[in-house]
Amino acid sequence: MMHTLSSGYRAVVFGASGGIGAALVQLLADDAQCTQVFAGARVSPASASVKITPFAFDLLDESTIRDAATLVTQSGPPDLVIVATGLLHDGALQPEKTLRALNAKNLLRSYQINTVGPALIAKHMVFRLPRDRRAIFAALTARVGSITDNRKGGWHSYRASKAALNQLIRTASIELALKHPQALCVGLHPGTVNTRMSTPFQAAVPAAQLFSAAQSAAHLLRVLDGLAPAQSGRVFAWDGQEVPA
Ligand SMILES: NC(=O)c1ccc[n+]([C@@H]2O[C@H](COP(=O)([O-])OP(=O)(O)OC[C@H]3O[C@@H](n4cnc5c(N)ncnc54)[C@H](OP(=O)(O)O)[C@@H]3O)[C@@H](O)[C@H]2O)c1
Repeated sequence: MMHTLSSGYRAVVFGASGGIGAALVQLLADDAQCTQVFAGARVSPASASVKITPFAFDLLDESTIRDAATLVTQSGPPDLVIVATGLLHDGALQPEKTLRALNAKNLLRSYQINTVGPALIAKHMVFRLPRDRRAIFAALTARVGSITDNRKGGWHSYRASKAALNQLIRTASIELALKHPQALCVGLHPGTVNTRMSTPFQAAVPAAQLFSAAQSAAHLLRVLDGLAPAQSGRVFAWDGQEVPA
């Protein structure tokens, strides 16, 4: 599946309890070329396969991210790191339909989960990628984080937190390229995917445009496999098209 990574590659997925994260873990574990998948979640799941090594972390606690980074690199540098965490809604936080609905608590919570957490994972993981071969750091973002593409408005907190994540990905990619010329640091838009995140918003989505988590995960791995280091720092959708900044 990941033909361009070294044979015997190791992968790490932060957010393995999510819809897309769990599907990524499964596909990677099923890839004969992959020797080990570290699957991270707030509540560390039981391992479903000898290839899957669970670990615990919380985006809200940097020490758990630092400890996770140490753990997942003990057996050597990982070739692929994917951050599949994210937050669109929970009990108190709902995507805003109007600026009038914006409040500081929800805006900060969106930033905390969608921006700060993945940035801290990047801080602790990107320099641990191998320097002598191809390697990829990817974070799940969203097309609605594109400022250029924003025609409908709404979803202020989610949009802004993903736009900020995209900027952090670009900034990290520039630094990463200095000593890791074969490495990539990119954002990924998974499409509209049937997970608990999209459930309240699926009514407006034509059935053909709603992917299963397994379909989306397969698209995303295919896109990552085809990217060149010169494309580092950008955001790509499930179909390989670049999402404008
Ligand atoms: N689904 C879509 O249609 C869609 C569209 C565009 C972009 N995306 C992006 O794709 C990514 C994955 O989304 P999904 O649909 O798979 O969502 P999901 O099923 O709701 O999964 C979200 C994941 O984020 C984790 N998470 C939340 N807060 C956390 C924290 N404090 N510490 C550690 N982990 C935390 C959740 O862990 P718990 O299980 O512990 O809560 C879960 O693993 C997100 O970045 C999302 O923005 C999704």
